[in-house]
Amino acid sequence: MTDNSEYKKAINQHVVETLQQQFQRKYGQKASVIEHAPGRVNLLGDHTDYNQGFVLPAAINYGTNVAISARTDDIISVYALDIENDHVEFSLTDTSLDTEHSWSNYVRGTLLQLKQSFPEICGANVVVSGNVPQGAGLSSSASFEIALLKAFTKLYRLNLSGVDAALIGQRAENDFVGCNCGIMDQLISAMAMADHAMLLDCQDLTMRHALIPDELTVLVINSKVKRGLVDSAYNERRAQCEAVAQHFGKASLRAVSLEELDRERNAIECILYKRARHVITENRRTTQMYTALNNKNFEQISSLMAQSHLSLKDDFNVTVPETDLLVSIVADVIKHRGGVRMTGGGFGGCVVALVPNNLVAEVIAAIERKYFKQTGLVAEFYPCIATQGAFT
Ligand code: GLA
Repeated sequence: MTDNSEYKKAINQHVVETLQQQFQRKYGQKASVIEHAPGRVNLLGDHTDYNQGFVLPAAINYGTNVAISARTDDIISVYALDIENDHVEFSLTDTSLDTEHSWSNYVRGTLLQLKQSFPEICGANVVVSGNVPQGAGLSSSASFEIALLKAFTKLYRLNLSGVDAALIGQRAENDFVGCNCGIMDQLISAMAMADHAMLLDCQDLTMRHALIPDELTVLVINSKVKRGLVDSAYNERRAQCEAVAQHFGKASLRAVSLEELDRERNAIECILYKRARHVITENRRTTQMYTALNNKNFEQISSLMAQSHLSLKDDFNVTVPETDLLVSIVADVIKHRGGVRMTGGGFGGCVVALVPNNLVAEVIAAIERKYFKQTGLVAEFYPCIATQGAFT
């Protein structure tokens, strides 16, 4: 564990001061509340959450900050500093999607849901700013939703738990934005424990925490492949999984074993069989990874992450040649001393590597030597620290 508390305090103070200055400039008064929620990286268990399965994410030191003060009417005014100071204003009762300022739909959807649970809330002046790379699969939108919910919770003294905040964020995505995501991103952003990864059972939302071994650096590498048509492909994967569960008369794939699936192999369309095989085997790998982290079993970590990547590539078809290439470059350097795989929804975005601390520079050098030459893209590196959730 690195002792980064002084450094973190200095950074936080800087962020708070900058946000306060901006807030003062926009609204002529100080914000009464400033809250932060982290993005996340998933160490293992992708496309399992919406199948009631297991995931193993950690919150990261990249996140979203929301500065806010109360209004007496029901108007929400929001400035997005990172989107060229874009500004939207709407009423809390307005239920329409905004196609021009699509980022604002996360605010609209989240607050519509919040208002249903807490009809007493009024409007607010809001300024938002963050540093989670957009569209990289590190949950910039979930961290936005959770930061907003935490800020409203404090501002209006709401009795809202982290788990309920996560469920509100998920409903905003499912029912308003139109992405049928699972609960992982919002829940880890709200409930993470610093220095730990969380084994979350998405069926009953029980959480267990595993210390990330000191010997390993969580290195996230952005392929810089822009993810196109992500929501429709994502929703299609979800529908395919649900079709298989339905074939078995089960509520979700969580209730289907590999043996049962194999027995029905000929009765299921090949592509659906592969989707389900990924989910069922990924669940097993995820619980094993939790144990491997606790036991500091680096060889097993390496093998589980490698198997996960292959399964996401060959059975779930959500990797791209660029993330496959990054994984193979990293694996060549670290061998069985750490692990590497794509992370998040896929279709581009990032890979996550658990790299022995003394090999980080070598991994970065290898990627810089090979990745641009083969793809014409410049990868970005984010060495991450596992941070605390907004509600913990
Ligand atoms: C996205 C979704 C999550 C999860 C991952 C894949 O990040 O928001 O709910 O399904 O993809 O594991």
